[in-house]
Amino acid sequence: MRVLVLGGGGREHAICWKLKRDHPELELFCAPGNGGIGAIATLVPVKLTETQQLLEFAVKQKIDLTIVGPELPLSLGIVDLFQAAGLKAFGPTRLAAEIETSKAFAKDFMARCGIPTASYQVFTDAAEAIKYIEASPTPIVVKADGLAAGKGVVVCSSHQQAIAAVKASLVGDTKVVIEECLVGEELSLMAFVDGETVIPMPAAQDHKRAFDQDQGPNTGGMGAYAPIPHISGSVLKQALDTILVPTAKALVKEGRSFTGVLYAGLMLTEQGLKVIEFNARFGDPETQVVLPCLDSDLLSIILACVEHRLASCTEVDWNHNSALAVVLASGGYPNEYEAGKPISGVAEASVSSSVQIFHAGTAYDRGQLVTAGGRVLAVVGLGSDLTLAQQRAYQAVSEINFQNMHYRHDIGARALAKTVRNHISN
Ligand code: AMP
Ligand code: GLY
Repeated sequence: MRVLVLGGGGREHAICWKLKRDHPELELFCAPGNGGIGAIATLVPVKLTETQQLLEFAVKQKIDLTIVGPELPLSLGIVDLFQAAGLKAFGPTRLAAEIETSKAFAKDFMARCGIPTASYQVFTDAAEAIKYIEASPTPIVVKADGLAAGKGVVVCSSHQQAIAAVKASLVGDTKVVIEECLVGEELSLMAFVDGETVIPMPAAQDHKRAFDQDQGPNTGGMGAYAPIPHISGSVLKQALDTILVPTAKALVKEGRSFTGVLYAGLMLTEQGLKVIEFNARFGDPETQVVLPCLDSDLLSIILACVEHRLASCTEVDWNHNSALAVVLASGGYPNEYEAGKPISGVAEASVSSSVQIFHAGTAYDRGQLVTAGGRVLAVVGLGSDLTLAQQRAYQAVSEINFQNMHYRHDIGARALAKTVRNHISN
């Protein structure tokens, strides 16, 4: 079978790794890929915005299945394009992907379908938005509509900051969502979805801020772990029953039937679970910790989704391991950074079968592995519990080096502190 994966980050490396692990015979292609993916797949130097060119490649190369990693090609309707040409593509159509690509659509959809979320208003007019902000308590959240690569959300501690955020995001013919600030524990819950059938994955927790103790600017994600030991099975059942399943059903009802990975960013508040956002794809870096916990064959699950027979796909088994990823980033990330720094120690760090290293921004320059992006590597430790997974990840991190490398030292620390507290209070 010939499979094409679209994307070039740690998420796509994890997807390629899992596919190849289950099916060593698979003929795997990845556009554009990265230095690590190149070891297990043929890299295709086509940009993700060039959807027509990607289609031509898939037709010419007789690709049997295309798996879409990031949101950008989804927002450009790549799945619609491939389907119209009679090709199998895993991911939602452009219309279904609006649950991620338009925050205004997502909020209005949740409101009319009774999906719990922060109270909000959508504005196109800055003066109206400012009036609303001035009458609302702080902190308050300002979100630009449309894709903003994680940079479109500002959690504002003052009215002044919120007004500045509105002025910055309301340019031209745009919309801005202003919403209540939710307080609580954040978690990411992804599920395989095929119309009304929803099969959840283990919950994961991302670490979005750049520096230790959740300081510094928001990033694409500096680390993650799964599963979350302090989130109970009943909370996850609540998420499935009150959020994921009703969302999938309502999308079908509204003519936006969703196939692919539906990702709910949730806040466990004192009033219960509420949706912060939906994504229409695998999360990054959540995928790097969730897929190592999947015992079943990923390709079979994806094919079951694409062929609309997920309901009969009973074999989705998760192992009882924990996985923890530490992202190694270029100095300066998430702001400006330099690329092309030689990376050492990756081979030494990955000798243990309890460590998996997924490349994000890497490339080979005359045989030398070098940095080629803001997030460079995700170093994943695996273990029977989170403590062990964390130890193994940081042990491996200590082997790796490149100039100006930075990473968080506290991935999983809050969860482990909570687990200890729960033990003591029990
Ligand atoms: P998003 O791009 O929607 O994932 O938002 C980025 C981050 O901003 C989220 O992971 C949250 O930590 C935070 N955030 C977004 N919306 C809210 C909200 N209504 N209340 C509190 N925090 C939020
Ligand atoms: N980890 C957040 C995301 O994938 O959007």
